[in-house]
Amino acid sequence: MKRIITGGAGFIGSNFIYHMLEAHPEDELICLDKLTYAGNLENLTEALKNPHLKFVKGDISNRKFVYDLFETEKPDQVVNFAAESHVDRSVLYPDEFLNSNVMGTGVLLDACRKYGNIRFHQVSTDEVYGDLPLDRPDLFFTETTPLHASSPYSASKASADLIAQAYHRTFGLPVTISRCSNNYGAYQFPEKLIPLMIWNATHDKELPVYGEGKNVRDWLYVMDHCKAIDLILEKGTIGEVYNIGGHNEKTNMDVVKIILEKTGKSESLIKHVTDRPGHDRRYAIDPAKIHRDLGWQPETPFAEGIVYTIDWYLAHTEWMAHIMSGDYEKYYDTMYTDRDKKFSR
Ligand code: NAD
Ligand code: DAU
Repeated sequence: MKRIITGGAGFIGSNFIYHMLEAHPEDELICLDKLTYAGNLENLTEALKNPHLKFVKGDISNRKFVYDLFETEKPDQVVNFAAESHVDRSVLYPDEFLNSNVMGTGVLLDACRKYGNIRFHQVSTDEVYGDLPLDRPDLFFTETTPLHASSPYSASKASADLIAQAYHRTFGLPVTISRCSNNYGAYQFPEKLIPLMIWNATHDKELPVYGEGKNVRDWLYVMDHCKAIDLILEKGTIGEVYNIGGHNEKTNMDVVKIILEKTGKSESLIKHVTDRPGHDRRYAIDPAKIHRDLGWQPETPFAEGIVYTIDWYLAHTEWMAHIMSGDYEKYYDTMYTDRDKKFSR
């Protein structure tokens, strides 16, 4: 089996590559990644020692490049992680999200049709469903919840899902889609809540909480997500959507306070800053279908996963230092200095 893993140098994609090399040692993996600011070959340092993994730098929205790669490599399967993934960036630069997330997925789907009806898995997100009210803890996203995206990021992911479903229905392309809740774990770029707060806390910097910090996210340890995708590839029904989540809802303030407690830092570091425009209130996945049909369930409790994650960041100071020495400071300044001017509507 030869699989192309797009976006494999990013957070979840690199964890997925480590999982697949171990779970399917006989397979050939090709990591196709543009190496944007979020793509980092250091995430794959150990994996690239394995001769079953090959890295190819390229853009999934470049049709000629993608067709040439499929022609040469003749893959059996494509797992598409490649995307612009940060909601805040999509507020400031929506066009990059349309290009990579919508057009890029379209090009991959065309390549799968052209080179032999290749099995395609789209890694999507719970954000395509929009959000849930904070005062209705009885409501959850199921696979039949209507798509109702809020941000340019989630709208681009919802568009990609619809195109993938259309290619299955119209052309019979063997497509599956997974929609997962918020991931955390090793190799996550420190623009996202958990690694950003770990870094700031451990460097005695302010912890910028958007608005009141009451928004709720449903956290899942990244390797549990990777195992779920592997299971869908093995046993999932073609044409189906699978929600992935572990019923682990927390407010942002809960998460920040846990990080402060585990790092031994004071809550006085918390600073409330201008809210994200259109900020989704609550995400909550109903994972009943993947549990019932494929037997998947999460293995890592949050209390364990968060300690492992904090320890990982503390132990990988060189990995962090390389990120910090790049454009990160400029990014941080763009997002957090004069935030009220940039993010007001
Ligand atoms: P990430 O930003 O860490 O990584 C994205 C990777 O895609 C990077 O390596 C980047 O270089 C690559 N990439 C971006 N545009 C590309 C292009 N045009 N061509 C080739 N490569 C390109 O993202 P992540 O958090 O690992 O998310 C991976 C996927 O999972 C995304 O599709 C995201 O929508 C989805 N997802 C993420 C989460 C989460 O909590 N992080 C949850 C559910 C779903
Ligand atoms: O739900 C899945 C999605 O989770 C994925 O599709 C996205 O790719 C991924 O980025 C993530 O989106 P969120 O917007 O939920 O993640 P983020 O880490 O950016 O923010 C989590 C929450 O924390 C959100 O309510 C905003 C808040 N936040 C975030 C940052 C970076 C803060 O309060 N302060 C911050 O500095």
